[in-house]
Amino acid sequence: MRVCSVVGARPQFVKAAVVSRKIRDVGEEVLVHTGQHYDEEMSDVFFEELDIPEPEYNLGVQSDTHGRQTARMIAELEPVVEAEDPDVMLLYGDTNSTLAGAIVGSKRDMAVAHVEAGLRSGNREMPEEINRILTDHASDLCFAPSQAAVDNLAAEGIVDGVHWTGDVMYDAVLAARDRARENSTILADLGLEPDEFVLTTVHRASNTDERENLEAILDGLADAPLPVVFPAHPRTVNRLQEYDLWERANEALEIIEPLGYLDFVRLLDTAERVATDSGGVQKEAFFLGTRCVTMREETEWTETVDCGWNQLVGPNADLIREGLTTDWEPESNPQPYGDGSASRRIVGLLQEELETMPDRRIE
Ligand code: UD1
Ligand code: UDP
Repeated sequence: MRVCSVVGARPQFVKAAVVSRKIRDVGEEVLVHTGQHYDEEMSDVFFEELDIPEPEYNLGVQSDTHGRQTARMIAELEPVVEAEDPDVMLLYGDTNSTLAGAIVGSKRDMAVAHVEAGLRSGNREMPEEINRILTDHASDLCFAPSQAAVDNLAAEGIVDGVHWTGDVMYDAVLAARDRARENSTILADLGLEPDEFVLTTVHRASNTDERENLEAILDGLADAPLPVVFPAHPRTVNRLQEYDLWERANEALEIIEPLGYLDFVRLLDTAERVATDSGGVQKEAFFLGTRCVTMREETEWTETVDCGWNQLVGPNADLIREGLTTDWEPESNPQPYGDGSASRRIVGLLQEELETMPDRRIE
């Protein structure tokens, strides 16, 4: 089995970390980094800390408009695939790097496999929703993290090659949690006590690219009853500066650089509450038993809301404030995302399915 794995953005490094090594135990992997995230703290730190194999290729496609960025990734990825001749293109999540991989892979003689298939927020204004839908429809193998994701695919007519695997991010959190408890010094470094701070992240386009939404988020977070620690995504830092909100944000929040995975998981594990618009962080908070206030109108991780661990508050100052100040109790502790062995299942399924897959060459 020869796998071409494509990653490019922070959450994809976390997901690939638990799958790449397992692929290399049983077959060959060509790991391609598109270059979508490139700052040391958005990229290198994950490869170092999580022992992700060094990518065989870095396409060096950095920030740009969506169309140009995706197009350049496609143009750079195709010759790699031509030279390496993999059996399958393995894609993660819903970024522009995912979509570029889906387009290149589906037009060549190889299978396309999508990890985190079938997620839907129902909001087609999100660039990620379009990336998810197109990638699922271009994939031969859809690895769904939950039963709801399997159902979403079926509702769009995708049933062949669909497998419930559980969520690789659960594997990632389980692998990191104890290491973080033992090794991370982030609480002492930041002078924090467990349960006496709120952790926040904000980077979603709809929240950062509209001043009004970013300002409302700042207002809501500023009223939190505990100190708020904010490892800030570079996109958000840029916008806060552009909108002249940087000083105000620094007065209200403890803004720090983006963190490596172990330090971040340590903060998630010990925070009294989390406020985020991240997909991955909502889930990780759920896995670690930390209540989450999600600053979006909808989520693709609906199970976390249904059981009461996650509240959707949108970029609304009053609702954010309420979510952070009201004491609410989760209703139940379901396990909709598997048992922490999604990565093992995915690698096993890749091996099995590739043996039976017909030639898909497009001349
Ligand atoms: C991307 C994904 C999003 C994912 C997020 C994870 C798409 C459409 N969006 O959003 O789904 O949740 O990654 O973090 O693929 N920048 C830097 N340094 C970096 C990376 C980015 O300064 O290393 C800045 C640049 O100004 C860039 C901006 O952040 O224009 C946005 O980066 P980009 O990768 O386009 O989108 P994200 O918001 O990171
Ligand atoms: N993360 C991290 N350091 C940070 C912020 C996030 O390691 O400072 C991790 C987080 O634990 C999760 C992933 O990055 O595994 C989520 O990435 P992000 O929120 O950027 O993207 P999304 O999940 O929304 O696509």
